[in-house]
Amino acid sequence: MDVTTLRTAGFVSFEYPQGLRTAVQTALESWQLFCTLPLEQKRLLSGGDRVHDFGFMCRNDKGPVADRKELFHALRANFPQLLPKAAKVCDPRATAFIRAVDTLLEATAPTVRAFAASVEEAYGLVGFTKLVMESQPHWTFRYLHYPKGSAVLAHPHADRGGFTFHLAETEGGGEYYSFDKQWLPWPVSAERTIIFPSMELQHYSNGAMKALWHRVLPVEHSTNARYAMVVFIDFQGLYRFDDSTHRVQNFAPGFNYHLPFKEFAGLFVPRDNITPAA
Ligand SMILES: [Fe+2]
Repeated sequence: MDVTTLRTAGFVSFEYPQGLRTAVQTALESWQLFCTLPLEQKRLLSGGDRVHDFGFMCRNDKGPVADRKELFHALRANFPQLLPKAAKVCDPRATAFIRAVDTLLEATAPTVRAFAASVEEAYGLVGFTKLVMESQPHWTFRYLHYPKGSAVLAHPHADRGGFTFHLAETEGGGEYYSFDKQWLPWPVSAERTIIFPSMELQHYSNGAMKALWHRVLPVEHSTNARYAMVVFIDFQGLYRFDDSTHRVQNFAPGFNYHLPFKEFAGLFVPRDNITPAA
């Protein structure tokens, strides 16, 4: 995979391999079907507390600018809990959805490996591919559903984990913040997709790669619900972004693009307190 555009544009863009595109489409359709289940049934697939942040989550704010999105976090590490919960729903929409997540994990792995191997070679990060592939149980598949007319989509942010693979979105509106500080539409469609570094990869590469800022704006003429899928590749490195004292959203977009590494590294803590996800 050609990763030279990481230095110039901050992301890599490529055509979906055919097998992956089919798996993405199947997973997206199963998520859309899952979303049609009654709310109380969907809630059966939640992690059940704020520490183990997995499964179904729903914001149900009231008011004109309310955030009413539904989201689902699926990690293979959580499958032993998710599968019995899905069975309890007694509806094929729930079990089919969880199975499609698993298929998607298999389907994304070769592309993730290709990206990691190219990055390992281009940036001299010996052992990076192995670290990424050993972390598969912790890759987080995030499924999103914004109901029709949602005023709040994604505010400007950089992702906290290793790197982000954008899998699908049914409406446009996604933008990235370029290194010369302009918001530009990102090249995501039914045929093309992107991968971009997040905070932990910037740290892991001693600042050679930059966590890409991005946002999602409501599409003016669209009256459709919006569905999207991403996978956060969290590779369980030695350090993690210290979200107990910092919130990425509180920094100015692109703050990290030209920040000395020493200052950037001050936002991280050793990953000595990993809570098992399952
Ligand atoms: Fe994001």
